[in-house]
Amino acid sequence: MSKNKINVAIVGATGVVGQEMAKILEERNFPVNSLKLLASKSSAGKKATFKNEELTIEELTANSFDNVDIALFSAGASVSSEYGPIAANKGVIVIDNSSAFRMDNNVPLVVPEVNPDLIHRAIKTGKGCIIANPNCSTIQLVVVLKPILENYGIKRVVISTYQAVSGAGKEGLDELQTQTQKTIDKEAITPKKFTHQIAFNCIPHCDTFLENDYTKEEMKLVNESRKILNFPELKITATAIRVPVFNSHSESVNIETEKAINISELKNILQNFEGLQVQDDPKSNIYPMAIHTANKDDVYVGRIRRDESIKNGINLWIVADNLRKGAALNAVQIAELSIK
Ligand SMILES: NC(=O)c1ccc[n+]([C@@H]2O[C@H](COP(=O)([O-])OP(=O)(O)OC[C@H]3O[C@@H](n4cnc5c(N)ncnc54)[C@H](OP(=O)(O)O)[C@@H]3O)[C@@H](O)[C@H]2O)c1
Repeated sequence: MSKNKINVAIVGATGVVGQEMAKILEERNFPVNSLKLLASKSSAGKKATFKNEELTIEELTANSFDNVDIALFSAGASVSSEYGPIAANKGVIVIDNSSAFRMDNNVPLVVPEVNPDLIHRAIKTGKGCIIANPNCSTIQLVVVLKPILENYGIKRVVISTYQAVSGAGKEGLDELQTQTQKTIDKEAITPKKFTHQIAFNCIPHCDTFLENDYTKEEMKLVNESRKILNFPELKITATAIRVPVFNSHSESVNIETEKAINISELKNILQNFEGLQVQDDPKSNIYPMAIHTANKDDVYVGRIRRDESIKNGINLWIVADNLRKGAALNAVQIAELSIK
């Protein structure tokens, strides 16, 4: 692999994350030599454009990874479980967006602003490897937790998420669009992607329920945050809600810290952390909102205020584009660091 000429494959290239990956590779001028767009058999032959060049979508097979240096996977956990190791064994650096390998002790789970060192430890010259991209709601959370942990220590985190339908892929987007129109037209609605009507509703249910009555999405927030922050005993609890927003996840977060926090000092620390933007001027009604963060790269934080019910605690509101920082951008940032 030459640093200046990378052969890249996107697995799941027709999905909402896969399309965003191609867009971001182009925007950031990633040194792509060739780009292979892979999806299921049903998409084979469809066309897509990359840097003004028309490319043909190919069906994913075990032979798809010949002459590929880096493969960005975004086609779900079962596809990653099957084809990720095949690609890695062929010497490919696999950057995987699914949950398949995130909690595997041998696979680094990386957010470049938080634990970039793990990338270089995973890469051995001439050999393939798998690097996992965390879940979208976890990425935006840990970018804020990291500087708070370093400066004040963390005793406990309580998070509630307000997650966009694009987090459930292209079918999630279609469902909100269709149901919104049907509700306005007073037509009957039959939910397909989500368990209940999502238009004009909030559903306290993202992904499937587990034995402990939490959802998988909630436990991803708990377990992945502990792994990325290298803080296995972190006390953290989560409630994940699907909301009728097309793009960008929002999160209400309560943090109890070890040390007392000076709010203006904290705002400075957050503003100076890579990838974070503080948007917090309540008097002027300024705070992060999903409608403003879609298509943006940074994680936005606002409504920063003391939790007056405990000695050392704060409340804040975190918003980021789940398709970009929550998925495709984070993966491309890992790819950038892996070729440095
Ligand atoms: N959406 C988010 O915000 C987000 C955030 C973080 C992580 N992720 C993860 O990223 C992955 C993709 O999510 P998405 O939201 O982009 O989903 P999506 O819009 O539904 O796209 C799924 C993609 O996977 C492809 N695919 C499905 N089955 C396949 C197979 N057997 N072989 C090859 N390709 C196959 C689809 O191809 P066809 O079009 O041919 O069916 C499509 O390109 C998931 O693992 C998801 O958990 C998503």
